[in-house]
Amino acid sequence: MPDLATRADIDVLLRRFYSRAMADDLIGYLFTEVAHLDLDHHLPRIGNFWEQLLFQRPVYVGQPIAVHFPLHEAATLQPAHFQRWWRLWDESIASLFEGPMADQARTRAATISESMQYRLGIESDPALFSGAYKAALGMEP
Ligand code: HEM
Repeated sequence: MPDLATRADIDVLLRRFYSRAMADDLIGYLFTEVAHLDLDHHLPRIGNFWEQLLFQRPVYVGQPIAVHFPLHEAATLQPAHFQRWWRLWDESIASLFEGPMADQARTRAATISESMQYRLGIESDPALFSGAYKAALGMEP
């Protein structure tokens, strides 16, 4: 399996992830019914975010954590939502890519997930999260 290496790879990964996330029984409604997410608008932005994060190309302008405050206000995000988000991210990566950059995509998502929960005032519950999540954060499984 190839490693995640180009912007086109990021776009493929994001399409895989969002098709799963939006159909998910636990978090799907947050994207569809609460945020009414328009993928044509959202995917290029989030692709820029990951391109900047993973490949250091300065293409993203935004507030990746702040955009989740209104979502939290509207729907009270919970640790279980973040756990599911992570599982779908981890599985989407595993189904397409493997290597150091794929691992980076896991680690960065886990780190941001932790700081997002902290910033939103949600008490992250490590007991809920998978060994892969904890490994990405360098925690004991
Ligand atoms: C339960 C977990 C999560 C849910 C339900 C969720 C949902 C959403 C939604 C609905 C948006 C669109 C907001 C808008 O444009 O108004 C969004 C944007 C975004 N999310 Fe999440 N998210 C979650 C966790 C995460 C995590 C862990 C990351 C870490 C990488 C992340 C990264 C982003 C980024 C980069 C954007 C785009 C920001 C921008 O447009 O500038 N999200 N998310």
